[in-house]
Amino acid sequence: MAKKIKVSAPGKIILSGEHAVVYGYPEVLSAIDKRLFVEIEESKAGLSVFPSEGRSYVEHALETVKTKLEVGKLDNLKVVVSSEIPIGCGLGSSAAFAVAITTAFFEFLKLPRNLKKINEIAYGIEKKQHNNPSGGDNTISTYGGFLLYRKETEMFKVFSSLKTRVFPSLFLINSGKPIETTGEMVDRVRRFYLRSPLKVEKTFKEVEQVTRGFLKFLSKEESNLGELVKTNEELLERLGVVSKKTMRLIRKVEKIGGFAKISGAGGVKENSGIMIAYHADPEKLISFAEKERLDMFRVKLGEKGVRIEQNAC
Ligand code: MEV
Repeated sequence: MAKKIKVSAPGKIILSGEHAVVYGYPEVLSAIDKRLFVEIEESKAGLSVFPSEGRSYVEHALETVKTKLEVGKLDNLKVVVSSEIPIGCGLGSSAAFAVAITTAFFEFLKLPRNLKKINEIAYGIEKKQHNNPSGGDNTISTYGGFLLYRKETEMFKVFSSLKTRVFPSLFLINSGKPIETTGEMVDRVRRFYLRSPLKVEKTFKEVEQVTRGFLKFLSKEESNLGELVKTNEELLERLGVVSKKTMRLIRKVEKIGGFAKISGAGGVKENSGIMIAYHADPEKLISFAEKERLDMFRVKLGEKGVRIEQNAC
């Protein structure tokens, strides 16, 4: 019987530090309970990919894996990708894909499972996708849990797993898929940085303070989660990565006593992707979402990183 491997990797949210992380500032991320699945099986007739729109991504991942692992023969394969993570909304679907497919090839080739190597290769796949990623998204998808992550240089990226308290109930609101890609949003901030380096550096430094605030929150030294979310959102708005439509929605959440921020690259033309929302009284948020007909769902944080779902012959 043909060898069949199934691997899953989680999506992520960024509690604080998106964009600033590209410039060497720290970020705090968490893996979430939405996963992407990659199944690979030996086939006799070359490469087949399901759904077929994913073919170019799979081909490109295959090339990266073949080059990095110096293997020649990875051609007769059936690859099936399925996902619970909405695509292109800031939940790390492309990183989860890169991590899951790399791990699947490791299993398929019977290589020892080496998370460091898998993470490195997944970063290589992400780089072709987004030009200049920080590497935070693939790292959280590989290791899971909560991470403090920092890209010191292209070569040196450091992270630490955060043992944390039970997190209060958080919701995700999908403000809609941004028109812009992550790469375009990173580039937008880069152009702002080039125009006004002092202003942007100042904002990044303030983001870093909020990121440290989240660390204190996770270690119970600080309790005001709502204020941290609110300040982080204000700084992201100052960086120019939140659309007017999304800002209006966030102001409405604040009016009912809640807090919300975008998570990830954002978007300005129309939508800004996923938002993290918090209210001390979750029922208020639930009835607000019903009234406004929002796509809102509860999210579990600190979930497991990449894992093998099936390895059978
Ligand atoms: C994307 O999820 C987060 C950004 O900071 C880009 C990156 O870290 O590569 C906007």
